[in-house]
Amino acid sequence: MRNKITIVGAGNVGAGCAQRLSERGYADIVLVDIVEGMPQGKALDILESGPVVGFDSNVIGANGYEETARSDIAVITSGVPRKPGMSRDDLVLTNMKIVKGVTEELVKHSPNCILIVVANPLDAMAQLAYKVSKFPRNRVMGMSGILDTARFRTFLAQELDVSVEDVAAYVLGGHGDTMVPLIRMATVGGVPVSEVLPQETISRIVERTVKGGGEIVSLLKTGSAFYAPAAGVAQMVDSIVLDKKRILSVAAHLEGEYGISGVFVGVPAKLGKNGIEQIIEIKLTPEEDAALKKSADAVRELIKIMKL
Ligand code: NAI
Ligand code: 2OP
Repeated sequence: MRNKITIVGAGNVGAGCAQRLSERGYADIVLVDIVEGMPQGKALDILESGPVVGFDSNVIGANGYEETARSDIAVITSGVPRKPGMSRDDLVLTNMKIVKGVTEELVKHSPNCILIVVANPLDAMAQLAYKVSKFPRNRVMGMSGILDTARFRTFLAQELDVSVEDVAAYVLGGHGDTMVPLIRMATVGGVPVSEVLPQETISRIVERTVKGGGEIVSLLKTGSAFYAPAAGVAQMVDSIVLDKKRILSVAAHLEGEYGISGVFVGVPAKLGKNGIEQIIEIKLTPEEDAALKKSADAVRELIKIMKL
């Protein structure tokens, strides 16, 4: 029997996730949105690509949650994206209402599912979903670190004129201006990038990575990135459904790891069939440690605004 994956929000990111995940063939997909007809239309369109692409996953759209019952994984993309001039944090008051209601419905219909939150501001929305769901922390996580890391790897590979596959890196921290690209651990073909690129070039790439979401928003003007975010979600789902135990940058609820407690922050985590199976603690330099704690404090500010 195939897995069942619900994706809430059939907008740019949600529809992208539905397409990528249906093409995996390992899960049936339920796409939920409040707009009547839209999730049904997109689901049918994706389903009709099956004979061409070669997958048998069922894909349906819905405006309610009956069809989502007993999902193994639920991805929450419902929420407004930012417009030029806005930060992710500006979305908190609008998106918290959406994410709260959606989480309640998901929990009611799929009490054993794993929640992957995508709506922004990411870490705060993951915190909200964790609080509302009352799930154990291994079953609630946020997608952002894979996206931030992918941007970092893309820019490094472009600069070095090498395959992105040979550039390894991690971006930790919250999904915002305080994110922490770990320069010390970024490598190309196993060689630290600091040995092959001048410091000022690395600093420029770090700056572009941190502002990577805003760069896309200012180009698109009407919304934010969705191709790479959907790919990030699919990578997390692959690791869970296939029990791959990949170590990925994931927003996780920390309970003492990295000296941080009670807050979601991006850290390397092992993802398998139980969700977050281990949080990997990298020994940080004092500067990296301070940057990660500053990032956690920025998430705490949003939690205060949400009065969680
Ligand atoms: P979008 O506007 O294209 O889609 C959002 C969808 O959510 C819309 O179709 C809307 O009708 C739906 N929606 C709103 N309220 C709902 C509810 N109560 N129940 C079900 N559906 C509801 O936006 P897009 O580009 O897909 O982005 C979605 C969210 O994901 C935004 O908050 C955005 O900032 C965030 N995002 C986060 C990323 C990350 O790295 N964590 C990356 C990209 C986007
Ligand atoms: C991004 O970084 C929208 O948060 C999303 O592109």
